[in-house]
Amino acid sequence: MGMQRKKVPAAIRERLLRDARKVMMNAYAPFSHFRVGAAILTSKGQVFVGCNVENSSYGMTNCAERTAIFSAIARLGPKLEIHAVAVANDHGVPCSPCGACRQVIYEFGPEAVVFYQGKKGPKQSLITELLPEGFRLK
Ligand code: THU
Repeated sequence: MGMQRKKVPAAIRERLLRDARKVMMNAYAPFSHFRVGAAILTSKGQVFVGCNVENSSYGMTNCAERTAIFSAIARLGPKLEIHAVAVANDHGVPCSPCGACRQVIYEFGPEAVVFYQGKKGPKQSLITELLPEGFRLK
């Protein structure tokens, strides 16, 4: 039941996008000056948020999406089921989850819906469209 694909109501989608835009302002992005916020909706209806956290050692940067997912795991434990993800950035430019984050979203939400800024405005895709043939150990 939990992983079943259900349509995300418009009001919930708007809430996720609003939460993503709000947490975006907490980003630590002194190197890129590109703030990103993410909000995830669990299969039980809880919302968790995250922002990007950069580092002087650039490769240590954590994206907003993974911050949100890791916060949810820290709070809920490992049985997280992601139903939807919303992403926002402070430049109003196209910004879908990066490849690494797609794989992490897929791990906990193989049927997740992702809301993000596309080239021609707001977009919505299944994680399996963004990440075909995602990796699973079993
Ligand atoms: N970033 C995210 O947080 N999420 C994405 O989906 C794409 C990129 C961050 C990483 C880095 O701090 C900044 O955006 C510029 O790449």
